[in-house]
Amino acid sequence: MSESVVVHPMNPRYRIRPHPGSVLHRRECHAHPGGDCSHLALHHVDGTWSDEERAAHPEWTWNLVYLCRDAAHSCVPACSFVSILSSPVRLCLIFHLSRPVARESSVADKIAYLHASADWDEHWLREPCFQLSADSELLLALNSRQVSLIQSSLSKIGRAYDDMKSSGYLDKLASFFGDVFSSSSAPPRPTSTFGAGFSGYDRLDPDGYDRAGYTMAEGHSSTDWEARTHYQIAYFVELGRIFQIPASLNVAYDPCYSIVDVVVLAALGIRGLTRTDAARPFLRIFTTPTLFYAPGAEQHTVGDAILRTPDSTQLLLQVGDVTWCLEPHEAVDGSGESYEGYPHDLIAAYVLSYKKVAIPAHRIEMKPGEAREAPAGENHLLQWIPVSQREAFEKRRGPAREPDIRMMYLPGGGQMIDD
Ligand SMILES: C[S@@+](CC[C@H](N)C(=O)[O-])C[C@H]1O[C@@H](n2cnc3c(N)ncnc32)[C@H](O)[C@@H]1O
Repeated sequence: MSESVVVHPMNPRYRIRPHPGSVLHRRECHAHPGGDCSHLALHHVDGTWSDEERAAHPEWTWNLVYLCRDAAHSCVPACSFVSILSSPVRLCLIFHLSRPVARESSVADKIAYLHASADWDEHWLREPCFQLSADSELLLALNSRQVSLIQSSLSKIGRAYDDMKSSGYLDKLASFFGDVFSSSSAPPRPTSTFGAGFSGYDRLDPDGYDRAGYTMAEGHSSTDWEARTHYQIAYFVELGRIFQIPASLNVAYDPCYSIVDVVVLAALGIRGLTRTDAARPFLRIFTTPTLFYAPGAEQHTVGDAILRTPDSTQLLLQVGDVTWCLEPHEAVDGSGESYEGYPHDLIAAYVLSYKKVAIPAHRIEMKPGEAREAPAGENHLLQWIPVSQREAFEKRRGPAREPDIRMMYLPGGGQMIDD
């Protein structure tokens, strides 16, 4: 797979690998869409990017679009010469940029630069590393408790990874996906991954409320929950390697994420999103083939992904059989359980069209003498809408859109938006 890297001309440390849904990734002339323009170059054209797209990128890249030599345009400020260097594996674009950068590099920018560094080129060719160097820039603003939580969490994820690898399970998984995606009825091969709801390592808010809601769950200790998180993140790392997804195009979101989780994930080549991350709207609308891995997800999390995806054939779900979403669920208005409404009706439409394949599972001993399926994806299936079913399904679903606002009822009696 070829990768694109965009480099700031005056500071070569500012490099990013644009998301495949970004205009920076689509090498198409902005002035002549669909045309066969040659000599494409990046130019700054004010007002070309949406607010969502800007929020997901470092500021110096905003409003850069490809234009051919023949395109008439006026850059703001006047654009200078832009050159393109290409090699078989990577297209590297260097442009002259006279705009000053107004915003300080945020943590998200720093992570983007780390993931676009040479250390992360073709990362799937080397073994993953489950530690972060003590002098990493990402640790600078954190306190010692956070740093130690990050390092201990990484080593636990590493142990889960080693367990799945040493048993031969990861090879089995790679060969399973190899077969699925080489078959004649294969879905599109994912160019990005999205992991939802792995839960996090630093979940208590200032009032002591567990943001993942585990204190309200029965039948699991917090150690059990965390073991599930180690396996799920380790598994997600492997999905990125199997599909050769460039670092930072593996995105993960859980509303309980804190800076600790974002840095843990960054160390593994994953872009973690918090609830308040401005990039979330852009990265949750799946406009290119995306593997959506959501182990132990809530029914709404699966429904929301289906509802948001413009071309439904590009969403590959890796969760338990979605027919589980047809079981009673908590009604959106909090008025008890419902068999109808959202997401029940949406999923009922989905199952009329979907195709599914079972994914091999891995058995582990979570407790001595108690072997069971690893919590990386119990009874998971790969599920998607085949091209031949797209029209019929989207007619039943309607246009892609954001779900209605849902409220979550907190133990202390308050409410917050649940997304
Ligand atoms: C039932 S727990 C499952 C946690 C873990 N994946 C497991 O299998 O044990 C659901 C997780 O989904 C998260 N979650 C809730 N709403 C979400 C959303 N809209 N998108 C992603 N994750 C969400 C919760 O914070 C929680 O960590």
